[in-house]
Amino acid sequence: MDENFASLIAQTEASLQDARDLRAWDAVRVSVLGKNGTLTALLKELGKFPADERRERGAALNRLKDTLTAAIEARKSVLEEAALAARLASERLDISLPPRPAPAGLIHPISRTMEEMAAIFGAMGFAVGEGFDIESDWYNFGALNIPAHHPARADHDTFYLPAVPGSNAPPRLLRTQTSDVQIISMLERPLPLRVIAPGRTYRADHDATHSPMFHQCEGIVLDRHITLGHLKGCLIDFLRAFFDISTLPVRFRASYFPFTEPSMEIDIGWNRATGELGKGGDWLEILGSGMVHPRVLANCGIDPRAWQGFAFGMGVERVTMLKHGIPDLRLFFESDLRWLRQYGFNALAPAILHEGV
Ligand code: DAH
Repeated sequence: MDENFASLIAQTEASLQDARDLRAWDAVRVSVLGKNGTLTALLKELGKFPADERRERGAALNRLKDTLTAAIEARKSVLEEAALAARLASERLDISLPPRPAPAGLIHPISRTMEEMAAIFGAMGFAVGEGFDIESDWYNFGALNIPAHHPARADHDTFYLPAVPGSNAPPRLLRTQTSDVQIISMLERPLPLRVIAPGRTYRADHDATHSPMFHQCEGIVLDRHITLGHLKGCLIDFLRAFFDISTLPVRFRASYFPFTEPSMEIDIGWNRATGELGKGGDWLEILGSGMVHPRVLANCGIDPRAWQGFAFGMGVERVTMLKHGIPDLRLFFESDLRWLRQYGFNALAPAILHEGV
């Protein structure tokens, strides 16, 4: 009798070993413990035995059942663990894989230059001011001491908006210079003030060095005791920091602007033949500047006997072309991705040229 049991145990264990997954395991379980299973059959037969044998055999069958059940459950745990391990392996994430490159945007050279200007002038205590692309005649010309019929207007090739029907006001225009921000700053900010204004400007002009839309950066400083010396020191420092050439030659040359008196063009030293900045004995005009004209101050309600200061303006495209050796201004606005990838700046690398200013 026990031999039978032993062989049933051995056979069940062998079948359990052969069962490679939970489905096969369940078939073995049913074949032993199920309604028609081998153990169930033995239990059913128990009634056929004489009463004296039945008790002992019943106890033996119970032990057999415990043994078989334990073996079946043990195999189930093994198979479940194996199934889990297989699933974990197949669903494994390889976190050591380098990420796919995300398309990173670049900063346009014009934006970069304006950021650098804000950084350098910011270190000198300037705030950044803003104006409007569409401007009134007064802010763009009149308040800046360029009255109607002034010859300076003719240089500007201005885009005018249609006149407002029924109004005597001069038509509005696309601003031809950022100098309107001088007026806005004087009217809106408390004195003393230091403001730069990088922004868009417009003139009807189009060739390799002119675009109908371009950028200027204006600057104005007003205080009680500002002199030409401050103007010179401020702009020499700016130009040397911006071009990153500590020995950059800078020349101040008498000139004329209606809104400054005296007025100066500022030239930097370069080599005309090679385009190299900083040496070579040639001069390149780069900035307009001067002491703010008393009439401009008065136009903004400021007493020119109490306050004075300087102003300056420069072309953003121009200094960017010089700094990076870009030959044609039109490239800035063609939106050619190949060009932008070549000349764009890393968005995460801040402008730090102001360090040491
Ligand atoms: N607005 C001038 C231009 O468009 C540039 C300029 C010159 C601005 C001298 C100034 C200045 O503030 O003082 O050509």
